[in-house]
Amino acid sequence: MSHPAVLFVCLGNICRSPLAEAALRKVAGEAGLDLHIDSAGTGDWHSGEPPDSRAIATAARHGVDIRSYRARQVRAADFTRFTHILAADHQNLAHLEALQPDEATAELALILDLVEGREGQSVTDPYYGDAIGFEQTWADVLAAAHALVGRLRPAA
Ligand code: 4NP
Repeated sequence: MSHPAVLFVCLGNICRSPLAEAALRKVAGEAGLDLHIDSAGTGDWHSGEPPDSRAIATAARHGVDIRSYRARQVRAADFTRFTHILAADHQNLAHLEALQPDEATAELALILDLVEGREGQSVTDPYYGDAIGFEQTWADVLAAAHALVGRLRPAA
């Protein structure tokens, strides 16, 4: 397999996908797994902005500093640059399927498709909720990160 490269996608790239990126950076780092990891949004309203302050606080509580992350929109090159593009919800996945160029090689799926028993589910969108919502989002993306590292780690 080519070097694994994982792109997480949500709507704004300020809440769910930056937390997914943070969780995978943490878990892959702990496992000594060398992955290329990024996140992006299907929308561009927040392009160039840091993550939502509540996402920054949530990642910090779990030991990851995401203050330097900057939102960007998904682009055509992502579909060949990344081996896995993982969407937070069904709407994001539908957008990705529509955007996908003919030469796309990335495997598209939902983030929670990776987690046994949670296939087809969406990551909780905390944007309009409270701090507890962000903790639920973290739990979702952390479970996915563990599942992905388990899948990508070379057999010992
Ligand atoms: P995200 O959350 O897609 O998880 O980054 C949202 C961020 C911004 C908006 C909606 C959801 N918004 O409508 O601006």
